[in-house]
Amino acid sequence: MSIRLIVKEPDPVLREVAKEVTKFNDNLKKLLKDMAETMYDAEGVGLAAPQIGISKRVIVVDVGDENGLVEMVNPVIVEKDGEQLGPEGCLSIPNLNGDVRRADRIVVEGQNSGGEKFTVQASGYFARAFQHEIDHLNGILFTDLAENLYDISERTRKGGE
Ligand code: NI
Repeated sequence: MSIRLIVKEPDPVLREVAKEVTKFNDNLKKLLKDMAETMYDAEGVGLAAPQIGISKRVIVVDVGDENGLVEMVNPVIVEKDGEQLGPEGCLSIPNLNGDVRRADRIVVEGQNSGGEKFTVQASGYFARAFQHEIDHLNGILFTDLAENLYDISERTRKGGE
């Protein structure tokens, strides 16, 4: 495993629509492991492959609760319900947070590293992290959606998504 460099805004890879994964091989397994390691090293709660310069539909999420680490390939939100407004940050946009309105409950379908389909039901902050990461796969950053933005560079916060 290795920690990858996290690309920052305005790197153009963050604005691409990432490609669907069709090969479920050892490279994909290594990518998922590296993404998890990179996310934990940066103290983030999620990471999308474009954030390490790889324009593929791969995400990892771990918000530090009982859901643990979720690695998902080709994720698609198939149900959305309710609404929540809350703060977000992003590992690719250091020192900025903003309040973003998201669905409160979602169902996400995707595949594991072997290509098997599985479904995740998420609510609250866990659902927020999924929506943020899936946006990354479509070239959307939280700053595009935020109702306000505030500088957090005064704090020593790492973290983000
Ligand atoms: Ni992000």
